[in-house]
Amino acid sequence: MPDKNTLSVPAIAMQQVRKVYPPLKRKGDPVLAVEDISFTVARSEFVSVVGPSGCGKSTLIKMLAGLLPITSGTIEVDGNLVTGPHDDIGIVFQSPVLLKWRSVLDNVLFPIDILKKSRKEFTQQAEELLHLVGLWDFRDHYPSVLSGGMQQRASLCRSLIHDPSLLVMDEPFGALDAFTRDEMNLELQRVWSQRRKTVLFITHSIQEAVFLSDRIVVLSTRPSKVDSIFTIDLPRPRLLEMRYSEAFGHYTEQIHARIMQARSGGG
Ligand SMILES: Nc1ncnc2c1ncn2[C@@H]1O[C@H](COP(=O)(O)OP(=O)(O)O)[C@@H](O)[C@H]1O
Ligand SMILES: [Mg+2]
Repeated sequence: MPDKNTLSVPAIAMQQVRKVYPPLKRKGDPVLAVEDISFTVARSEFVSVVGPSGCGKSTLIKMLAGLLPITSGTIEVDGNLVTGPHDDIGIVFQSPVLLKWRSVLDNVLFPIDILKKSRKEFTQQAEELLHLVGLWDFRDHYPSVLSGGMQQRASLCRSLIHDPSLLVMDEPFGALDAFTRDEMNLELQRVWSQRRKTVLFITHSIQEAVFLSDRIVVLSTRPSKVDSIFTIDLPRPRLLEMRYSEAFGHYTEQIHARIMQARSGGG
């Protein structure tokens, strides 16, 4: 899609997005997954979305990526209406889904092969990304010898290889142990600050959301609406010990309270 590249246009604009899934069974009812979601994300902003499981977070991401039709409402990326898959987006899912017969480097270059672009042109980018996340020494290894954290680093490189302006991550660190998750949070912050991507990050960890984000969108239970939006006014770069500060605790408490209230069905 053409890049309008004007600063006034938000990187993402969702307007009254609604998603109804067709019935799962022949005589079943349609599933209203997302009722009414509107918010914008500015260029280079880091925005997290938190909400109860099943509230439609993954659905929202698939619609943003153009992988799933929107029932009503609109999503724009850089001012362009999303009507189908587009390649100005990189996606990282919860499970790294690396191809086990391809080396780390070849996995990172996989989208280039798929998009039928020239490998030559992107090899340097692949090398830089692998250096950036500390995987350079493992470039010729197969995914099976990598730890979960390393696999997720490789899939982060793969999502950024075509240099999209938008990085979307759907609970990417949910399956990792707490220490690896901390490391990945620091790493992601570093990658984001060096590459100035716009990031939409889905997580069920409030702490992770506060640690990483400029703003946090809290969704209600299904069918989801935007419950509230928090601006996280903590200095950058964020350090892990900041999680024990009073200001940090204040944010997590407030957001936790919103989610509990959303779950019990009250505004
Ligand atoms: N293909 C589908 N058909 C019908 N219902 C679906 C489908 N995919 C997801 N859903 C339902 O939509 C709701 C939102 O799902 P999802 O977006 O995966 O939520 P989350 O990522 O927030 O956990 C859930 O109730 C789920 O069961
Ligand atoms: Mg999900």
